Amino acid sequence: MNAGIIGVGKYNPEKVLTNADFEKMMDTSDEWIRTRTGIEERRIAADDMETSDMAYEAAVKAVKHAGISAEELDLILVATVTPDQPFPTVSNMLQDRLGAKKAAAMDISAACSGFMYGLATAKQFIETKTYKYVLIVGVEKLSKITNWEDRSTAVLFGDGAGAAVVGPVSEGRGILAFELGSDGSGGKYLYEDKSGHLVMNGREVFKFAVRQMGESSVRVIEKAGVRKEDIDFLIPHQANIRIMESARERLGLPVEKMSKTIHKYGNTSAASIPISLVDELEEGKIKEDDLILMVGFGGGLTWGAVLIRWGR
Ligand SMILES: CC(C)(COP(=O)(O)OP(=O)(O)OC[C@H]1O[C@@H](n2cnc3c(N)ncnc32)[C@H](O)[C@@H]1OP(=O)(O)O)[C@@H](O)C(=O)NCCC(=O)NCCS
Repeated sequence: MNAGIIGVGKYNPEKVLTNADFEKMMDTSDEWIRTRTGIEERRIAADDMETSDMAYEAAVKAVKHAGISAEELDLILVATVTPDQPFPTVSNMLQDRLGAKKAAAMDISAACSGFMYGLATAKQFIETKTYKYVLIVGVEKLSKITNWEDRSTAVLFGDGAGAAVVGPVSEGRGILAFELGSDGSGGKYLYEDKSGHLVMNGREVFKFAVRQMGESSVRVIEKAGVRKEDIDFLIPHQANIRIMESARERLGLPVEKMSKTIHKYGNTSAASIPISLVDELEEGKIKEDDLILMVGFGGGLTWGAVLIRWGR
């Protein structure tokens, strides 16, 4: 029994905040933001749009795309560090709103790596035949923890949601291998402070990210018994174009084989990989039987890499 992604969906808030908008708000420039991060604009959720509302929009699409009904879901996992409130969880709220009567529900808190943790968790339940269908949503309303006075972090983040239904797929397809990791000693480099603001040591996170993205990619490829040259498409966490490029170069992949959505959405944390997945599928860049490598890192510090043979 193999577990793979059988349906996807996403939600991007309508409101666009451009680099030019930031020039009016603080001492920064479009040129600085573009060259240092690759970001041109990001989406910001309306005040009355909660994390659970964005999760719901993405989830409905993913369930429909999978061709199943919400009642068939066995488990709902929501990866977020910006839940509506500590509890009930976003996954509990989603379970009720979707009418997923038999589904268990829990949130996963692994910052930007959360969607990778979700895929790895879903794989266990499905391949042991404990559950058949698992819904995973990566969703963040980072705008509510952004420190709008801090130019070194405010320009980086955006809001949004990406969802996937994981279920049984045919032999040879689905999640071939994964790696998850944590280095809590680096927690001090990226965290939410007591006033509820995101605090980051950009340089330290940058160094960690470049090292970890490359190393975990190589390890997951080895685990699956494939070669770097076999990778058809790379979906890195969209945090900084320079970090993404270093991962791509380490794998020796051409530019067109890497997903780049950071210019449109900024860093949407747990939502960045599933949102990118949806965009690339819509643009026809991912085909049946392609070997897809997803790799992320984030606060915790955490990381995760997942290798998928695309198709049902
Ligand atoms: C944040 C980040 C873009 C900063 O880029 P950098 O090249 O490392 O820049 P530095 O931190 O060295 O800062 C360089 C200068 O730019 C300034 N600066 C910071 N933000 C700025 C902004 N928005 N506009 C203009 N200048 C800015 C700094 O104040 C600093 O000025 P100084 O040299 O006079 O002190 C980069 O470190 C990064 O992306 N780190 C990883 C972050 C990440 O991925 N986080 C998400 C984890 S999931």
